[in-house]
Amino acid sequence: MKILITGAGGLVGSHLARALGSEHRVLALKHPDLDTTDAPAVRRLARDEQPSLIINCAVVGVDECESDPALARAVNITGPRLLAEVSAEIGSEFLHFSSNYVFDGNRLDDIPYITNDEPRPINVYGRTKLEGERSACAASARTYIIRTSWVFGQGKASCLSTAHERLTRGLSVRAITDTWASTTYVADLVGRTREILARRRYGVYQIVNEGTCSYHDFAVEAAGLAGLSAAQAEQLIELVTEAEMGRAAPRPRWTPMRCSLSAELSLAPMRHWRNALADYVLHEAGR
Ligand SMILES: NC(=O)c1ccc[n+]([C@@H]2O[C@H](COP(=O)([O-])OP(=O)(O)OC[C@H]3O[C@@H](n4cnc5c(N)ncnc54)[C@H](OP(=O)(O)O)[C@@H]3O)[C@@H](O)[C@H]2O)c1
Repeated sequence: MKILITGAGGLVGSHLARALGSEHRVLALKHPDLDTTDAPAVRRLARDEQPSLIINCAVVGVDECESDPALARAVNITGPRLLAEVSAEIGSEFLHFSSNYVFDGNRLDDIPYITNDEPRPINVYGRTKLEGERSACAASARTYIIRTSWVFGQGKASCLSTAHERLTRGLSVRAITDTWASTTYVADLVGRTREILARRRYGVYQIVNEGTCSYHDFAVEAAGLAGLSAAQAEQLIELVTEAEMGRAAPRPRWTPMRCSLSAELSLAPMRHWRNALADYVLHEAGR
């Protein structure tokens, strides 16, 4: 199978390209190789290469979307719509990643969001991700949408990905105490993505590790895995609220997710994030 991956220089794209490359012919295109908003270039490439599957991992990040809504719309909506249209034209499948930030996080019952819950995004990123999902599904019936959340793994300098390494080196980390979500080890996301592709059931998935955490819970777990005592962890983990972070985009307070479609397909539950983090620390972190 020939697979074209866009945004392949990022966290999810690079891991997917490596994993799928062992079985398939993968064209892993980083941003300089292909701009997903460049319609003539996208059409030319897809027609020349005729992939059976196009996977879009290109995205504009949460705070950048808030400061540059035009760029957010171009990359998070126009890009996936174009890729889905082109997929339909050449008879290929399309897979697009989306986010827990399509939800507002304001539910009072504090239970995880399932796929049928009404999305109500509260920031530009969430709004453009939601519209990107809908445009892609409208453009091609053979579309998989995989919403994921707080992804960590080797190759991205995010607070989740680097917490263990920093704490091991005795460096401090800032940990937000008042937002909660599902977190996802990129290796588990990639593994489940492969299973989904094998089932060939199009639709919206919500793929995350089991359990719910705050950034603070995550940092405390990382400190434990780094062998720090509770006192050492307390010294190195700086507690902050979301408001104190002063970030450009507001973040939803509570966005854990569960996947109705995975349950329907009898896919095994994902492992708990604490087990996934332990695995990451053992095999990948800091390498
Ligand atoms: N990471 C998370 O915590 C998380 C959570 C929820 C959902 N997701 C979803 O997962 C997907 C992948 O995210 P990620 O974490 O892998 O993102 P990432 O690490 O930020 O990578 C995104 C990649 O997209 C590239 N890109 C930006 N604009 C582009 C364009 N016009 N054409 C082609 N490439 C472009 C970027 O290149 P440059 O940097 O060179 O611009 C970057 O390499 C996204 O759909 C995202 O919404 C991620």
